[in-house]
Amino acid sequence: MDNRPIGIFDSGIGGLTVFKEIRALLPNEDLIYFGDTARVPYGSKSVQVIRNFSSEIAAFLSLQNVKMLVIACNTASALALSSLRTETSLPVIGVIDPGVRAAVKIAGDGPVGVIGTRATIKSGAYQDRIIRLRCNLKVLARACPLLVPIVEENLMNSDIARMALNMYLSDFKKQEVSSLILACTHYPLLKTLINEYFEGKTRLIDSACETACEVKEVLHARRINSCATSAGRETFFVSDSPEAFSEIATDFLGRPIAGECFLHSWQSEN
Ligand code: DGL
Repeated sequence: MDNRPIGIFDSGIGGLTVFKEIRALLPNEDLIYFGDTARVPYGSKSVQVIRNFSSEIAAFLSLQNVKMLVIACNTASALALSSLRTETSLPVIGVIDPGVRAAVKIAGDGPVGVIGTRATIKSGAYQDRIIRLRCNLKVLARACPLLVPIVEENLMNSDIARMALNMYLSDFKKQEVSSLILACTHYPLLKTLINEYFEGKTRLIDSACETACEVKEVLHARRINSCATSAGRETFFVSDSPEAFSEIATDFLGRPIAGECFLHSWQSEN
């Protein structure tokens, strides 16, 4: 048993989709969330910059005495998971493997689709892992850079969102993808519209749900789950504008944040 908190981080606010699923599965665990709101987006940044930012956040969370690190950000998971694993002795969980396993399991004869940020898709991290699990499975991957700003502007149910999905997903529809991995923190908020677009014929894999299941499994396997019986505490750190974060967090969590939100400024930003 280990009552230390679980550390979860993202490039900004989107990782709250993962936080929400972890909270739902593990109501008694203390959770610390770090959103790098001063440096978001990661999806258009270079590999080295994404790795450096991720290392800084992991070091910060380690100082908060977390027992596990969850990289809620798909871009950081794609580019920094293996480097972070060499830098810390804590268990580090990314969002890619859980999503890939779920997609391959239900793929049938495929093809499997993946949508994410430019950096995630360019890294090939999803494509490589899918092929490693089933080498004959066809994978279609596409970067959808407009979807993050659409969600952040709260345009989830707008004509703009429909037009963007139509533009990005038409090939997936033509090729009748059996499952589509929503490989970005923000995309679960577009699930209803994406489902509508595919008329329910394509299974959507929500990396957030799959990752929460993996977190639960690892806690149990390592016997580091909390023995608390009361509701777990929630603490938030952001690198810019805690007020703006708290406001928009409601859209991602479906409720206001429960704990306090603190500002953590990077030295270079001061
Ligand atoms: N959190 C990022 C991801 O899941 C999306 C936002 C960004 O580009 O930083 O890939």
